[in-house]
Amino acid sequence: MDTTNPNLSGKRFLDPFSGNVRPTPPIWLMRQAGRYLPEYREVRGQAGGFLNLCYTPKLAAEVTLQPIRRYGFDAAILFSDILVVPDALGQKVEFMEGEGPRLEPIRDATGLKQLDAVKAGGKYDIVADSVARIRAGLTDETALIGFCGAPWTVATYMINGKGSTDQAATRLFAYRERATFQQLIDTLVATSIDYLDRQIKAGADVIQIFDSWAGTLPEHEFDQWVIEPNMAIVAGLKKLHPKVPVIGFPRGAAASKAKSFRDRTGIDGIGCDTAMPLSDMVVLSKDGHVVQGNLDPLLLVAGGRPMINRTREIIEALEGRPFIFNLGHGIVPETPPEHVAQLVKLVRSAGT
Ligand code: CP3
Repeated sequence: MDTTNPNLSGKRFLDPFSGNVRPTPPIWLMRQAGRYLPEYREVRGQAGGFLNLCYTPKLAAEVTLQPIRRYGFDAAILFSDILVVPDALGQKVEFMEGEGPRLEPIRDATGLKQLDAVKAGGKYDIVADSVARIRAGLTDETALIGFCGAPWTVATYMINGKGSTDQAATRLFAYRERATFQQLIDTLVATSIDYLDRQIKAGADVIQIFDSWAGTLPEHEFDQWVIEPNMAIVAGLKKLHPKVPVIGFPRGAAASKAKSFRDRTGIDGIGCDTAMPLSDMVVLSKDGHVVQGNLDPLLLVAGGRPMINRTREIIEALEGRPFIFNLGHGIVPETPPEHVAQLVKLVRSAGT
């Protein structure tokens, strides 16, 4: 990593990417903005709908900054959603209160043809406006993470129309309609590069690509739907912004698959889920790669000794390595905000 890039200096968060390992790891938490915070619920109530919140830059910037003010994390993450991409492409997307996302499912090549990548730019620019506002509201010490969903994960919602535990409908679609599915993935690769390019130009310092459902693919499908699309996005981004670090998050991929993901996609860092053994995270952290993770979000709900002990174990296992402290998946709404404050204090006290 080239440390002459002004973006890469002065931000503790970016140190592990330039091989500058300190005793105290940087910390941010997936879903650090959200329903567990009363101040989020208040803004969310005013916004009139979740997507409205994502497309109102003033409010999106406000909820991004809330956890930074409260806890002083080393990085903020843009407040948006991975399903902004299908919405921007013209697919009907709704967030039902208490039920999660609902999309008008894509069933065939005709549904695919209706997606409009050129028109998507209009909504991406609104998100880029949020990014610029967030950057303006952060000090130079805090990094800003831009993000998108990885094509496979986004496609599971586009095909099934809602979340599912096993992504069966999309796995079947990929077997039966291979060429159409490949086209959908290619569309998502291209539009994600465009989307992330706009986020970086507006001020994002780092990118994370969320492949939250990578773990349900059988081994023989993992290369085509997880590794190749992530690799294509990273290659496209590196051409435009060679110095911006990219973190991959192939959630649910066992250690050997995560290692192949790390080696082949060209990512700079790998997010590890809760199931990843610490000994495998140590292996993944070799050769200058950054590892990120992996406290169980439910330990953050439980708090107390179990949370403290596991946090210490994680930090000790990764000591001296390029490591970013995080959860293994997103914060859940039941999380007591004071446990988050305690966790940040604990991680900050490492090495002192
Ligand atoms: O991390 C952050 O603080 C930044 C914002 C962010 C959100 N979603 C806000 C959100 C990010 C990075 C995401 C990513 C996301 N969205 C993923 C990948 C990460 C993961 O959790 O696996 C996925 C799969 C989604 C899709 C999604 N969005 C679902 C399934 C749901 C409903 C479930 C839920 O938690 O409510 C959402 C809604 C959503 N996205 C909320 C937030 C704060 C809650 C909506 C609300 O406020 O009513």
